Amino acid sequence: MTNTAKISVLPRTPAAQGDWDDLVQEDRVHRRLYTDEAIFSREMNNIFAATWVYLAHESEIPEPNDFKQAWIGVREVIVARDEAGVIRVFSNRCSHRGASVCREHRGNAAGFTCPYHGWRFDNRGQLFGIPGKNAYGPTFKSRDMHLARPAQVDSYKGFVFATLNPDAPPLLDHLGNAARYLDDWIDHNGGASNLRLAGVQRFHLACNWKLIWDNAGDGYHVPFSHQSLLVMTNARYGGGDMAYFADADRSKMTNSALDNGHTVIDQRPEMHGESAWRLQRPQPGREPYEDHVASIYGDQAQQVLDTTVGAGMNLNIFPNLALIGNQVQVIQPLAVASTGVHWYATQRKDADPEVNTMRLRTQEDFPVMGEMDDAANFEECQRGLCNSPEDEWVDMSRHHESGKDVPVEDGIIRGPVTTDLHMRNYYAQWKRLMQAEPTLRMDKGRLA
Ligand code: FES
Ligand SMILES: [Fe+2]
Repeated sequence: MTNTAKISVLPRTPAAQGDWDDLVQEDRVHRRLYTDEAIFSREMNNIFAATWVYLAHESEIPEPNDFKQAWIGVREVIVARDEAGVIRVFSNRCSHRGASVCREHRGNAAGFTCPYHGWRFDNRGQLFGIPGKNAYGPTFKSRDMHLARPAQVDSYKGFVFATLNPDAPPLLDHLGNAARYLDDWIDHNGGASNLRLAGVQRFHLACNWKLIWDNAGDGYHVPFSHQSLLVMTNARYGGGDMAYFADADRSKMTNSALDNGHTVIDQRPEMHGESAWRLQRPQPGREPYEDHVASIYGDQAQQVLDTTVGAGMNLNIFPNLALIGNQVQVIQPLAVASTGVHWYATQRKDADPEVNTMRLRTQEDFPVMGEMDDAANFEECQRGLCNSPEDEWVDMSRHHESGKDVPVEDGIIRGPVTTDLHMRNYYAQWKRLMQAEPTLRMDKGRLA
């Protein structure tokens, strides 16, 4: 390595104890994947740094000098739009002694001053001010002490991703056949230039990040975990959105394994069948909103009402991005048994306030109510996996031998919505990445 500005991220943890093929089998995985600190440490390099991770949506930083914090696994980064409008990604780790230079979730700033000793960086991460600089010796100025930048940054239709792996395939290759579902989701929300991420709800759960991932493609749990919601809906309204999960094995919904560990549950055959709007449970303000839309859109009113409703899919882009309904969920690993979950509401830039208000109201059952059902299960699973080590296995065998998971076009495998195919698929990718010895790199050199 000749360029001293390039820093290799590893020395790495020793190859994980045990044999990966023992830990990840065809139809079950070992509990240690959820409880072992060494495995978690390796994941932060081999999964989160070595493949593309989602950081931000461009609409969150629309103006020059806007910035937000994001995470590549446990590594803190800043995503900023510089004065020229170019999106920059750099480490939120001071090149002096390691303190975070930015302690706000988001804002607008031409640069960042480290609170510890006052080193100053511009919003491209370039060091330009050191208090008492004369005290440093003659060799100091030759050092590269700008904030470190990941090896690759790219975006797809406004979704910004990064990786520390210079050898990672292009972002579009990584997305693979998930890109077409992402296109569908974006189109449902008004198209790439119309989409805006609005407020965010953040919470921490006492569980490993993969328990959330296990559930992200799980169409089996719904009538049990969310029983109160479905019972209430049936009792009051005689059915409606999600009622079709009551007999999910026989429903028209599907669960698909996409490239590189990505998965999608497609609810649209049930949810959008006749009219997504009419299937929704009642929400406050629904009738006046319908009248309002009819008065503005006339013949197009039904179509507008239907796009208010969720996109009808759970699109899971491994390892940290899930598009659920009209919302964006980001999974942030914090420690082996601690995970941050960030839910972003979305708006359409072209929509009037009533439309955007209604888009929020249609999301009140999920995540506001339903997510808590899931969160309780995640933490219960974590306790079981930690506290009963003699009971070693986590099952993912549903429909493994039923013959119902079948290859369809372009390498997609599709099964019933209740299959565990999503777990088998992402764990296959997880194992490939954990077995690899990737090159990981940050660059602290001066920008060209
Ligand atoms: S740690 Fe940032 S200036 Fe010292
Ligand atoms: Fe759920």
